[in-house]
Amino acid sequence: MPKIIAQRRLVPNLHLIEVEAPETARAAKPGQFVILMADERGERIPLSIADWNVARGTVTSVFMVVGSTSQKLARLKAGDEIPVLVGPLGRPSEIGSFGTVVLAAGCYGIGALWPTARALRRAGNRIITLLDVKASYLLYWDDRYRKVSERMLISSRDPGVGGGEYISGKIGELAKTEKIDRVIAVGCAALMRSVTETTRPHGIRTIVSLNPIMVDGTGLCGACRCTAEGKTKFACVDGPDFDGHQVDWNELFLRRKAYFDEEIQSLCRWEKENLP
Ligand SMILES: Cc1cc2nc3c(=O)[nH]c(=O)nc-3n(C[C@H](O)[C@H](O)[C@H](O)COP(=O)(O)OP(=O)(O)OC[C@H]3O[C@@H](n4cnc5c(N)ncnc54)[C@H](O)[C@@H]3O)c2cc1C
Ligand code: FES
Repeated sequence: MPKIIAQRRLVPNLHLIEVEAPETARAAKPGQFVILMADERGERIPLSIADWNVARGTVTSVFMVVGSTSQKLARLKAGDEIPVLVGPLGRPSEIGSFGTVVLAAGCYGIGALWPTARALRRAGNRIITLLDVKASYLLYWDDRYRKVSERMLISSRDPGVGGGEYISGKIGELAKTEKIDRVIAVGCAALMRSVTETTRPHGIRTIVSLNPIMVDGTGLCGACRCTAEGKTKFACVDGPDFDGHQVDWNELFLRRKAYFDEEIQSLCRWEKENLP
């Protein structure tokens, strides 16, 4: 079974997990994800691959603690084993020489977008990075992004960092002063939709990494059905990257909430059994 090499809190509510998975590490490409289980009785959840190390034979993800499975993951320690880790899954992100690329990321997306940032810089793009955090103490991996970025901006509701602004405000300002060839937004669905709506009137191609509920991750179960370019897509095999201007966001939001009651019940059950 895949062994956990490291599991630690990066900032409040966001954790890093590094798992031994040599074949996944050898095959991983930017924008792909893994599906794992925290324990044998639990559900399968997708997590983006935030880094990999072929020599160590490991893959790393950054995850947000939101419900029972992520709570379980956050309790695991180096040396523990998980029953399942499959991947890499999904189509890799498009890496090319696009010109000026704005990378917009928040919460777990800061980790998830890192392999793409690194690859786009290597491909000769001019990178402007915009990280969105609620408060300064939630910022992580900004040191990594500074190394590949010509400009680095933070948006935050904390006036001490980022001027108390939302990500859409910063993108709007950038669009007025910079010739932007592409925006890539990764993070919670609300962040990706707000970036998409901001770039739409400017006609800037905007790629998002969709996060619908997934089960098998191989196009068979239909859980991740979404609509993009006016067609039905399965995010696990057709994505997760899509043109944000072509996504039916209302449908995505509705489908993400489909098991809300069960998720709350599961979290309450887990807390009752595990918290003092
Ligand atoms: C391609 C992809 C990549 C992702 N990458 C990351 C990542 O790198 N880091 C990260 O923190 N999160 C990532 N997510 C979201 C992550 O899968 C969910 O946060 C996680 O499944 C929540 O499980 P839970 O039991 O802790 O919470 P729950 O209480 O079960 O769910 C909380 C919310 O998470 C979503 N969710 C629940 N189950 C699933 C599921 N099986 N698949 C997808 N979403 C689900 C639902 O919208 C739900 O309302 C990704 C999702 C997708 C589709
Ligand atoms: S997760 Fe089952 S079809 Fe995509």
